[in-house]
Amino acid sequence: METIIRKIDKNKIDEDIMEQAGRILRDGGLVAFPTETVYGLGANALDEEAAKKTYEAKGRPSDNPLIVHIAELSYLSKITEEIPKKAIQLAEAFWPGPLTMIFKKTDAVPYGTTGGLDTVAVRMPDDAIARALILAGGGYVSAPSANTSGRPSPTSAKHVEEDMDGKIDMILDGGSVDIGVESTIVDMTVVPPMILRPGAVTKEMLESTIGEVQVDRAILDENSTQAPKAPGMKYRHYAPKAGLSIVQGKTEDEVKAIKQLAYALSKQGKTAGIIASAETVSEYTTGIVKNVGARSSQGSVAKNLYRVLREFDDEDVDYIYSESFATEGLMEAVMNRLEKAAGHQIIDAAQVSAKQKYRRIIFVSTTDNCRGPMAAELLRNQELSQEYVIESRGMVVLFPEPANQKAEAIMKSRQMSLCTHEAVQFSEKDLDDDTLVLTMEENQKWKIVTDYEFVKHVYTLGEFVEIEEEVLSSYGQPLTEYGKMFETLQKMIAKLAEKLNAAAENNV
Ligand code: TXA
Ligand code: MG
Repeated sequence: METIIRKIDKNKIDEDIMEQAGRILRDGGLVAFPTETVYGLGANALDEEAAKKTYEAKGRPSDNPLIVHIAELSYLSKITEEIPKKAIQLAEAFWPGPLTMIFKKTDAVPYGTTGGLDTVAVRMPDDAIARALILAGGGYVSAPSANTSGRPSPTSAKHVEEDMDGKIDMILDGGSVDIGVESTIVDMTVVPPMILRPGAVTKEMLESTIGEVQVDRAILDENSTQAPKAPGMKYRHYAPKAGLSIVQGKTEDEVKAIKQLAYALSKQGKTAGIIASAETVSEYTTGIVKNVGARSSQGSVAKNLYRVLREFDDEDVDYIYSESFATEGLMEAVMNRLEKAAGHQIIDAAQVSAKQKYRRIIFVSTTDNCRGPMAAELLRNQELSQEYVIESRGMVVLFPEPANQKAEAIMKSRQMSLCTHEAVQFSEKDLDDDTLVLTMEENQKWKIVTDYEFVKHVYTLGEFVEIEEEVLSSYGQPLTEYGKMFETLQKMIAKLAEKLNAAAENNV
């Protein structure tokens, strides 16, 4: 089948296109369309045959019921048997919008649409294109998310095309959706009403309108033996090709832990995918990193989540680590979807980050233009099993001087270089808890220890690697002396790398 794809502007809906789309629905065909939550795969909800086609196009089990979309409240009574007062209150408060309510169904709704259930899920979407299509299609449009079963819901027409091209009659391309996660589902047939799927209309919002609302435990508790009451929630909706774990804890610990995990993968010749936030994305140095949105703007994360997950399926990554997000408001729905994608695999960020003691190593000399930068470059050339920021600093740096020419000559003869180096003054900023400070001489160590009482990890390099020797300046001496100093440093740095790697291993 050839799928017709039409761009459509929600502010100026093309009536010819809408008439064509409506006719396809009335004739029993399938039309994908935007809603404010995700793209839906529309069919005539009152036509059993159309429901069958929907399941076929999605490759979806037919016991998973469809949501019936309406555009006017007056259409509700034809398909629902009893409409509780609280449902009217919710409709007044949140329709049109990202809320689906479950009612007892009438005979007008075929069992093919409800997956054999005596109840029917109803939603009135807010999107102008969706509303126009529902009316053009006869008033009752069943629409699951327009993805192949087992893939993330589509948030753009391009996603729909990826999954549905050639399988359905038409795609209405109305651009990217506003919300990005599916509607909140509330079962109105029980007292008190029960949330079966979290979405943009939160528990707090519902309760402020109708009082107590319960939450289906099965969607929150990974160990629940109870089947979720929304049949669709029992399926592991979507599992990224690469496997996914959520790293959970304080944001700073999450970043540290994910950096460690990604680095460890890279040491095995593998690539990590990282789901980061706008605030943290620049901190990652290994792997393929994607910004899922800003922690300060919940909406941006919801909007980008499914796109980012889809993108990772097209990338060559071996495993994906995601930061976690606070489960307030809309983020409860986001974390619910993310946890499902991860098959509830959660990694404790604090536990992982505690396994790396030092993250930064600073070599301190007097002027930071010879011994320190040499040591730093030597360490950068070692095989290290954990990732470190490796730098050098000087106790007396008057301007950003380049490296000493003799030092550079020695390094060059060993296929290394200090040509990009510029001297930097040591300062208090260099004393984080996870920074290891290694000085060339005793006097530099004592100066730091006395000036900064709170400092934790300051040693002379010799002391740290148990080679009781200071690395003295060769300034003004012949090149051969620089050569000897290099040999000393080389020996010490090799031991340093050994010691760091051994510590990393013991921490695993
Ligand atoms: O935001 C949305 O709700 C989107 C857009 C297109 O409107 N639609 C959507 O549909 O997410 P779908 O089919 O992907 O998810 C519908 C969920 C499933 O988990 C299904 O099991 C549940 O609603 N559901 C539908 N009818 C139900 C019923 N009568 N009782 C319990 N759960 C029901
Ligand atoms: Mg779906």
